[in-house]
Amino acid sequence: FDIVIAPITGGVSNKKQTPSRVSYKKFQIIRVLPSDEDEVLDIEAMSEEPGVQVWMPIRLNKTADLVLPPSVARDVKRFLTQREINFIVLSSDLERSIHKQNPKSPSINQKSELKATKGHVMTWTRYHRYQDILDYLMYLSENYPHLVELLPIGKTVEGRPLKVVKISSGQTRENVVKPAIWIDAGIHAREWISPAVALFILRQLVENKSYRTLISEIDWYILPMINADGYEYSHTVDRLWRKSRRTAATKSGRTLWDVSYGCEGVDLNRNWDWHWAGVGASQDPCSDTFAGSHAFSEPETRAVSDFILDHRDRIQVYLTLHSYSQMWLVPWSHTKKLADDYDDMMYLARQATEAIQKVHGSHYQLGTTPSLLYTTSGCSDDWAKGKAGIKYSYTIELPDKGMYGFLLPAEKIVTTGKEIFTGIKSIAKSILKIN
Ligand code: ARG
Ligand code: ZN
Repeated sequence: FDIVIAPITGGVSNKKQTPSRVSYKKFQIIRVLPSDEDEVLDIEAMSEEPGVQVWMPIRLNKTADLVLPPSVARDVKRFLTQREINFIVLSSDLERSIHKQNPKSPSINQKSELKATKGHVMTWTRYHRYQDILDYLMYLSENYPHLVELLPIGKTVEGRPLKVVKISSGQTRENVVKPAIWIDAGIHAREWISPAVALFILRQLVENKSYRTLISEIDWYILPMINADGYEYSHTVDRLWRKSRRTAATKSGRTLWDVSYGCEGVDLNRNWDWHWAGVGASQDPCSDTFAGSHAFSEPETRAVSDFILDHRDRIQVYLTLHSYSQMWLVPWSHTKKLADDYDDMMYLARQATEAIQKVHGSHYQLGTTPSLLYTTSGCSDDWAKGKAGIKYSYTIELPDKGMYGFLLPAEKIVTTGKEIFTGIKSIAKSILKIN
């Protein structure tokens, strides 16, 4: 999801040593509902206050979610009450919500014991660090060598490996090109449910024997984490970090841009070579939607796009997982104009969201990004469709609708995973029918 950022106030050093954790003690999350244009303007003005973050965009007759630092919380709420603008408090202490989200990880000793018995420490009951994820991928490739292949596609800015998991089984028939489905996750650091769901899907496809036909008829390319640097940073320093961790300094020590806190990193979902730096993307490094210095300036987006282009003749579906808001988004995102084949994309997506609804009743809104949210440029879904020519390209905004927002409790991983896996199975079946 998107935010209009004001950099977080508070001391975080830019030195190489790990900076101290950012605290959100007494920060509040409020939900406002502007019911006329004046109220929209009032709320927009308020969002310019230092330290205020916008989690859900401010739009007429739509709820918007705002994070308020303690320094302004009282004044903002008094202002809203005076103007008779409707609001509710979703969290009165963000730091507490952060602490409650994720159960403690086991000790080193417990971990090595788990590893000795199970071969890996991955669970779907808490959010794991990147090393656990990499270990699980290795475990899968070692234990299911006939199904799983790890394809290193590059490294992040800080040198973490990016590995695509290829899942495929069965004989390739003569002259028949098997269709492939691409799924990526974790392009935005703080959207922890996204990689967790990608790993759930991975487990279903590989470790659950009931889905063998899905992987014999279709090849799957899954990248469970694009923004590994940002993800780690969201675990160690700032739970609400969104961008990558590109720093301003070049190898020669030259500073490319302002180095104050919040100004590191590129929004990896604004860096794609499709209407790069247009509407809904920023050229300001301190913005949370900073598009980077040029299209594909970042090793993470370059690695993914190169891989997809190399396999574009086979990849028929592009899926990218984000959170939050529970939406199934259909291109285009950079324009309000509908794609020529909008109906085709909607048809498959509608079947998928209907299948999802049958699982636990969750409703995913369906439509284009501008119709449900706002216009955005340089995004991966548009690029996959526009440049790579992948007809069925979707961004899935995972749960919830704002009760927890980015801080979705870990106990929701499995239910969310099941829903999304059902939606993806529906897409897979449709693709097999079309072929
Ligand atoms: N939350 C994501 C973002 O801000 C997705 C927003 C919709 N954009 C899109 N291209 N589908 O990048
Ligand atoms: Zn996102």
